[in-house]
Amino acid sequence: MGPQALAGKITSQMTLSEKADAIEEHMMHELDRIVTKSVFSHLTDGRVDMEGGAALQAKYSGKLFNMGPDPRLPPMPEKPTLIDYFRARFASTNHLLQSAALARKNGHNEKVVMACLLHDIAVVSFIRCDHGYWGAQMIEPYVDEEVSWAVRMHQALRFFPDESVGYGYPDLYRKYFGDDYQPEPYIVEEYKRARNHKHYMTARLICVNDIYAFDPNAKVNLDDFVDIIGRNFRQPKEGLGWDNSPSAHMWRTIMWPTRFL
Ligand SMILES: [Fe+2]
Ligand SMILES: [Fe+2]
Repeated sequence: MGPQALAGKITSQMTLSEKADAIEEHMMHELDRIVTKSVFSHLTDGRVDMEGGAALQAKYSGKLFNMGPDPRLPPMPEKPTLIDYFRARFASTNHLLQSAALARKNGHNEKVVMACLLHDIAVVSFIRCDHGYWGAQMIEPYVDEEVSWAVRMHQALRFFPDESVGYGYPDLYRKYFGDDYQPEPYIVEEYKRARNHKHYMTARLICVNDIYAFDPNAKVNLDDFVDIIGRNFRQPKEGLGWDNSPSAHMWRTIMWPTRFL
C-alpha cells in the first residue's frame, strides 16, 4: 500500500488522533511483523487500553508478531554496550553530557562525573516519572553503589536547597511546576533520609552540576567520556541486556520495546 492508499484513508473530518492512528495503521501494514504497544504506552496517551493478540492478527492478516528488534528503530549490535545505548536508544544525550562536563570542569572525582553522566538516563530512554529510581535500578549492577545511590536520590534532593554548596531551588521548577508546588510526602521523607547518608554529597553534586539552563552552543561529545565509562561501568561481556543481572530485562526492553511478550 503506497502513499495514495494512505491519503484515501485520511479525511478532513478525522480528529488529530484518528489521523495519527490511521498513519500508524498504514505503517504497520508495511512491516513484515506486527509490532505491539504495551499498555503503558496507551496509559501515557491517557487511555487504559490494550489490543489482544487475536484482534491484532485479524487486523493484519497473515502476519506474525514481532519477537525481536523493531525494524523502525536504529539497529543495535549483538552485544550492546552502554555507549551503544547512548548512541542508538537515548533520545537526547546533551543534558547528560553537559552536566558531566560541568562536573569534570568543577574538578569533581570520577564517581561524581559518572553519576552526572547517568543521572537522567531513565528520562532519555524510558520514563520520566520517578526517573531517579528507575535510572538507579538500571545501572545498579554495573556501577559503584555510590553512583547508583546518588542517581536515585538526586530526584528528591533537587527540590531542597543546600546553601553549603550554593544550591538553591531551581528557577526552572517555578516555571515548570508553579510557585506553590510542594514535593509529595514520599519525596520529603526520602530527602530527610538522604540528608544523613554517607553518600549525600555525591547526590547533592548531581543537583549542583545538573544543567537547568540548556546551552544549545555547548560542544559536548560522548567520546570525551569513554575512558570514564570504561573505568566506572562494568560492561557485561554478554552485552548489556543479555547478561543475567537484576536489571538486564530493563535494558532488553529499551533495546526491543515492541517485542510481543
Ligand atoms: Fe533528574
Ligand atoms: Fe538533570
